[in-house]
Amino acid sequence: MAFEKTFAMLKPGILQRRIVGDVIRRLEHKGLRIQALKLMNITPELAAQHYAEHKGKPFYDPLIEYMTSGPVIAMVLAGEHATHQLRKICGATNPDEAAPGTIRGDYSEKMNRNVIHASDSPESAAREIALFFKPEEIIEYEDEHAKWIV
Ligand SMILES: Nc1ncnc2c1ncn2[C@@H]1O[C@H](COP(=O)(O)OP(=O)(O)OP(=O)(O)O)[C@@H](O)[C@H]1O
Ligand SMILES: [Mg+2]
Repeated sequence: MAFEKTFAMLKPGILQRRIVGDVIRRLEHKGLRIQALKLMNITPELAAQHYAEHKGKPFYDPLIEYMTSGPVIAMVLAGEHATHQLRKICGATNPDEAAPGTIRGDYSEKMNRNVIHASDSPESAAREIALFFKPEEIIEYEDEHAKWIV
C-alpha cells in the first residue's frame, strides 16, 4: 500500500449541526494525518471546478447551490492508502445504503446532504488538493503515531 495524500471536505451544515469535532475525531482515530485544514466559504466557480465531472446531471445545479450555501472545512489527509480508507469511513454516497458506523450512515438521511466529500481516486485527490490549497499550506511533520498503526 502506498502512503498518499487525499482530500476531504466537510459540507455546509457541519458547523451549524456542531458535528465538526465528531467527524474529525473519526478521521483521526483511523490514523489519517491532518496536513492542511481550512474553514472557508466556497465560490460558485470553485464549486463548479470541484464538481466539474457532474456538470449537466440533474442534481448538479442544486449541488452547487448547496455547496455554496454555508461554510465548509477543506482538509488534506495523509496515510496508507488514504483515499480508499477515507471513502470507506465516509460510507456510500446514498445514506440509505451507507452502513451504520460510517460518517454518512450515522449523520445523514439524504443523498444531497451527505455531510462529507471524499476524493474518489488518488488522481482526483491531487486535482482537488491543488484547487483548495497552495503547496505551502500543506504541512509535513513527524508523526509518532504512525509507527503504531503502519
Ligand atoms: N442522484 C443524486 N441525487 C441527488 N444528489 C446526488 C445524486 N448523485 C450524487 N449526488 C450528490 O452529488 C455529490 C457528488 O456525487 P458523487 O457521485 O461524486 O458521489 P460521492 O463521490 O460519493 O460524493 P462526493 O463527491 O461529494 O464525495 C454526492 O455526494 C451527492 O451529494
Ligand atoms: Mg465524488
